[in-house]
Amino acid sequence: MTDKFMNTYHRTGLVFDHGQGARLYTEEGKEYIDFTAGIGVNSLGHNHPRLVKAITEQAGKVMHVCNYFMTEPSLALSEQITAMAGCDKVFFCNSGAEANETLIKIARKYGSSKNPDKNLIVTLKGSFHGRTITTITATGQDQFHKYFGPFTPGFVYVERNDIAALDEALTEKTCAFIFEPIQGEGGVRMVDQAYLKAAEKLCRERDILFVADEVQTGVGRPGAFLACQRMGIQPDMTAVAKGLAGGIPIGAVLARDPAAEVLQVGDHGTTFGGNPLAAAAALVVLSEISAQGFYAEVERKGQLIRAEVASWKHPLVVDVRGMGLMIGIGVTIPPDNVATACRERGLLVLTAGDDTVRLLPPLVITDRELQEGLPKLREALDSLYAGQSSKVRG
Ligand SMILES: Cc1ncc(COP(=O)(O)O)c(C=O)c1O
Repeated sequence: MTDKFMNTYHRTGLVFDHGQGARLYTEEGKEYIDFTAGIGVNSLGHNHPRLVKAITEQAGKVMHVCNYFMTEPSLALSEQITAMAGCDKVFFCNSGAEANETLIKIARKYGSSKNPDKNLIVTLKGSFHGRTITTITATGQDQFHKYFGPFTPGFVYVERNDIAALDEALTEKTCAFIFEPIQGEGGVRMVDQAYLKAAEKLCRERDILFVADEVQTGVGRPGAFLACQRMGIQPDMTAVAKGLAGGIPIGAVLARDPAAEVLQVGDHGTTFGGNPLAAAAALVVLSEISAQGFYAEVERKGQLIRAEVASWKHPLVVDVRGMGLMIGIGVTIPPDNVATACRERGLLVLTAGDDTVRLLPPLVITDRELQEGLPKLREALDSLYAGQSSKVRG
């Protein structure tokens, strides 16, 4: 069968049929250990019984009503998520890019209420904020700034962890500073806690909204609900998406006052955002990750992976970075080669940037699944190293 998809992805040719926990199976029954969780989406793994039950039951009640009306799951979700994030209000949408578009609109409206020229947005080099025209403009990587111009004006990029550069860039014309606490797509690059604390202070002093993109880092993955909570910083707005509903599309902007009050009737909206099906799924995810000891387990498993990979002292591995179950392994060879070699051994891993293998396993991955998956990663690295050495010898 030939597919009719646009050529937007490097597809592997694998066709998955079903999954269980951190395992995926093809139709022929070939098993893969999943260290990708759909790029950080399947937070509760595959075929999680509570999630499946909640979605099935909700589908049998009501799947969607327009946003002029409310439903019990979306109301409950608005309460729970704002409580967990320690914020005042939430706007639900369908994806990370849409959440970032929303908070950019809030920032621009907030700025214009202070001064008509207060509309510049500062972001970090190496960041990734989405694939719409405005969010690729917000993305601080030149490779995204081609073909699709003209781009949205008003974005300024600064080096990560350089507080002097940020100090200079944040002017009276700046309405917001947007950052990922850990740059995911950019290569699992850590943004220093001290830098972010200093950035928060600068933003407060200058009436600039301090805004986190936690689309990839958020919702339990960092061993806390949000990475910013672990880092002791409190953004005015935070975007979350990916893992929030465990596989059903959802996004959210979590906002504190005064940002929470900026949008008014007619300023913004979305058809599907926060519909009862997605909300019912998200309620299960929030309930599961709130269980006593859940974040500690995420942290323990993340440390286990980092310690294990570091202990190999592998010649192809430069370093192991990350927080909780968001892990970057710096490698000396193209990371795609590692992903392919892993796949050949029944393990799915991701890449990030041009030098990093990225692991985003389901948050509920078991020790057994880890103990089965990690040796496959090591074997993949060993075989690539052996191939490299034999080429040098030959
Ligand atoms: C930090 C960050 N922001 C935004 C996005 C865009 O999210 P989506 O693909 O749901 O639009 C991503 C996706 O990878 C991301 O990692």
